[in-house]
Amino acid sequence: MSTFNPMAEPYKIKMVEPVKITTREFRQNAAKEAGYNTFLLRSEDVYIDLLTDSGTNAMSENQWAGIMLGDEAYAGSKNYYHLEDAMKECYGYKHLVPTHQGRGAEQLVSKALISPGQWVPGNMYFTTTREHQELAGGQFVDVIVDAAHDPLDESPFKGNVDLNKFEKVIKEQGAKNIAYITIGVTVNLAGGQPVSMQNIREVSELAHKNGIKVILDATRAMENAYFIKVREKGYAAKSIKEICHEMCGYTDGATCSGKKDFHTNIGGFAACNDDDFATHMRSNVVVYEGLQTYGGMAGRDMEAMARGMLEACDDVCMRHRVAQSEYLWNLLDKAGIPLVRPCGGHGVFIDARAFYPQIPQEQYTAQKLANDIYEYCGVRSMERGIVSAGRDKVTGHEHKPKLETIRLTIPRRVYTQSHFDVVAEGIIELYKDRDKMKGLKMVYEPKALRFFQARFEKL
Ligand code: F0G
Repeated sequence: MSTFNPMAEPYKIKMVEPVKITTREFRQNAAKEAGYNTFLLRSEDVYIDLLTDSGTNAMSENQWAGIMLGDEAYAGSKNYYHLEDAMKECYGYKHLVPTHQGRGAEQLVSKALISPGQWVPGNMYFTTTREHQELAGGQFVDVIVDAAHDPLDESPFKGNVDLNKFEKVIKEQGAKNIAYITIGVTVNLAGGQPVSMQNIREVSELAHKNGIKVILDATRAMENAYFIKVREKGYAAKSIKEICHEMCGYTDGATCSGKKDFHTNIGGFAACNDDDFATHMRSNVVVYEGLQTYGGMAGRDMEAMARGMLEACDDVCMRHRVAQSEYLWNLLDKAGIPLVRPCGGHGVFIDARAFYPQIPQEQYTAQKLANDIYEYCGVRSMERGIVSAGRDKVTGHEHKPKLETIRLTIPRRVYTQSHFDVVAEGIIELYKDRDKMKGLKMVYEPKALRFFQARFEKL
């Protein structure tokens, strides 16, 4: 890698999308209409959209050119074969099962591997992943290291699986009652924190010794590979592709949302090595997604994803991506805003409990913070706390996660340094007014994945 300033964009702008600049009064009305849920805002009322890095990225000219080469045959599209080749080149699994997005793959894997009553350990839950595991009759159990739940802990690999916790689950429940273990790389809800290669290797050894499969949530695997490259001894000279291959090599299969690392607006896949596992997923993909050679995607989308995959594992591209998160993180940190430390890959997470200590978690601290940031500066973020965590399927009680955060997620190649300056200015202004703020009450609660559609009123 060169010593070039990592914030300097390794691309230039060819097309622009105008955004609306609004007044605070306008945004207060829009927030009220949206039930104080940033998911329910209209995108055109948002100035800088940091809701998610999912499907919101800027594709390259090469990807857009690929869109014109869509082979929209129902069966055997040539774009499927390009995607299969790219997946093998970047990750190395034997079988590819395309899906419309990540959760489609999660459904296939959960249905193939979980028998009702089985446990599914994982390094912190992800919303859709856990939902599909539970729908298949499984019970998720968190085996992430304790450090992940502490926003102030500075460990470089806070996404790691705690081997003792995993071993305890095996001992207590019995290996045959464990469907598989999921390793998320990076760990979204922990703040985009990476998992080390050593940890993946050790988890794999322990799991396989007990006949337990390892499934990688490879949604941001290339970002994780970048962190391994810069933080773990022995990987500095390896390419992101080589690191991805090694990570995947310790696992039996993967689910992946194509909407992140690959810059595409839609897409995903499941992958594995075992022939029977692949056959099971292929028999379900035709029921729930589409034929096994398109899985819910148009041919053109598979082409864009194949090209995006090959582009994204470029070291310079990934270094710039992480540098943007770090830039915003540093601006906020310097101003004393309480953040999840260290900075993760796909965004900056604010510790809402420390930002608003006067608002208890039962009054949706982070939900209120996400709303206030929108009202103050037109920036949309996402709650990642008690609302996202939902309810225990058995007891009906709310899960109360230790981390009560909002996520300022950085779409890839979309915003510039001055956009991040505006985000920081707005949040710093809000921080000065923090003592005035009160919480929310929930007035509408959907049954599944409630954070998407829940509505609130101000207390
Ligand atoms: N796994 C992880 C780690 C994710 O972050 C996501 C999506 C999925 C699986 C599901 O993929 O959306 O394509 O169905 N995360 C988005 C986010 C929604 O905003 O973090 P999907």
